Amino acid sequence: MSGEFVPLLYLVSGVLFILALRGLSSPETSRQGNYMGMAGMAIAVVTTLAVARPETGLSWAMIVGGIAVGGGIGAVIARRIPMTAMPELVAAFHSLVGMAAVLVAAAAFYAPEAFGIGAPGVIRVASLVEMSLGAAIGAITFTGSVIAFAKLSGRMSGAPIMLPARHIINIALAIGLVTCVVLFCQEQTPVYFWAIVALSLLLGVLIIIPIGGATMPVVISMLNSYSGWAAAGIGFTLGNTALIVTGALVGSSGAILSYIMCKGMNRSFISVILGGFGGETAGPAAGGEQKPVKLGSAEDAAFLMKNASRVIIVPGYGMAVAQAQHALREMAEGLKEAGVEVKYAIHPVAGRMPGHMNVLLAEANVPYDEVFELEDINSEFPQTDVVYIIGANDVVNPAAEDDPSSPIYGMPVLQVWKAGTVLFNKRSLATGYAGIDNPVFYRDNTMMVLGDAKKMTEEIAKSL
Ligand code: TAP
Repeated sequence: MSGEFVPLLYLVSGVLFILALRGLSSPETSRQGNYMGMAGMAIAVVTTLAVARPETGLSWAMIVGGIAVGGGIGAVIARRIPMTAMPELVAAFHSLVGMAAVLVAAAAFYAPEAFGIGAPGVIRVASLVEMSLGAAIGAITFTGSVIAFAKLSGRMSGAPIMLPARHIINIALAIGLVTCVVLFCQEQTPVYFWAIVALSLLLGVLIIIPIGGATMPVVISMLNSYSGWAAAGIGFTLGNTALIVTGALVGSSGAILSYIMCKGMNRSFISVILGGFGGETAGPAAGGEQKPVKLGSAEDAAFLMKNASRVIIVPGYGMAVAQAQHALREMAEGLKEAGVEVKYAIHPVAGRMPGHMNVLLAEANVPYDEVFELEDINSEFPQTDVVYIIGANDVVNPAAEDDPSSPIYGMPVLQVWKAGTVLFNKRSLATGYAGIDNPVFYRDNTMMVLGDAKKMTEEIAKSL
């Protein structure tokens, strides 16, 4: 391929990535966005291979073989993974991006001629700075993502681990890191390179262990952002414009998403970036005293909803676990046939990942115009006859508004208790993700319809 076309093709792939991000911002256009992203990535990879392969001395067979093995493993994992385990899969993938950044930086340091950045011991200072940044951000992303994966997959406790004097330790590590970068740029010796990697690996662990419970989704998107910046760092080392552009897009969009989620959960963005700075309290365990609740059956729920004029459905993590979205749509169809107006209310952090509920409802062909975000529907609860909460808990907890000692205090919640009747479906009176009791269970206008979300919703649909 003639070299003059390379910048043009990279530009095309960059534009396709931007269009992909735009498409992914709404469920209606997300499929199209995905196709744009895939096309952009295919152009970027083929262009890079066409330009760089002759210099590497690798045969096409080796390259295609490598892509087939890696792509095959990725395809099998993606097919097997349940939607509920998506956040930990994303964390595991981010750790690989981080590790790749460290390995590319090490390769550039040990074989600078191959990267056109000088010779051993006389590497350009600008390249040494890029290498240090790539290695440091990559190493932080690697261990941070491994800890996030372990926490999300239940391999370690999700509770925050607060080391005494952790801020002082983190600041000391950060100062040590900057010192090592300066010395590495002056001396160019392996000991400083590996000291940068070791300190960053440790910092990655210490930044993520104090974060727990409800803040975990922000961590995933923040690590996504870090992995983008690490990739951009590698792009500078490799002199690859497409990688710089892609890394910067991932880095900045991840940072914007983290900021939006922090606002949605009333967490300080800076405190999350700096690793639980300001801290968060672990949720008190619920239970203890027994309070009376009103229990109802599927028939009771069907009767109440059928006789209502307006019903709002609030899905949460339990709907995803039970895979109740298809049963839910059938139930809603039955209500609509009976002349009831049905809407769905989606909290920004319902489920376990951004957009979790939207994806499941779209999969069940729920019309987009019946699905509303928190800020658009919260004012409608007082005029609603019945709310059907299906497998949600923290996102409808009034403690976020009333109880300053609650770990979720300040987080916006769906004000379901303002509706005429609240039908609360879950399997027990157990707590949700944040580990706190929900006062809505015990209110006079609440009826608990206990049972598996899919079975209960199917029974309600049958009774309609
Ligand atoms: P949760 O507060 O976790 O509540 C889910 C409820 O579903 C549980 O109380 C559980 O009660 C019930 N449940 C589980 N399996 C069920 C089944 N088969 N059938 C019926 N109910 C079932 O969920 P939420 O309201 O969606 O809130 C999300 C929480 O996760 C927030 O705290 C949020 O901060 C956090 N989080 C969110 C994300 C993102 S980005 N969305 C990522 C990580 C964490 P029972 O055990 O009694 O059935």
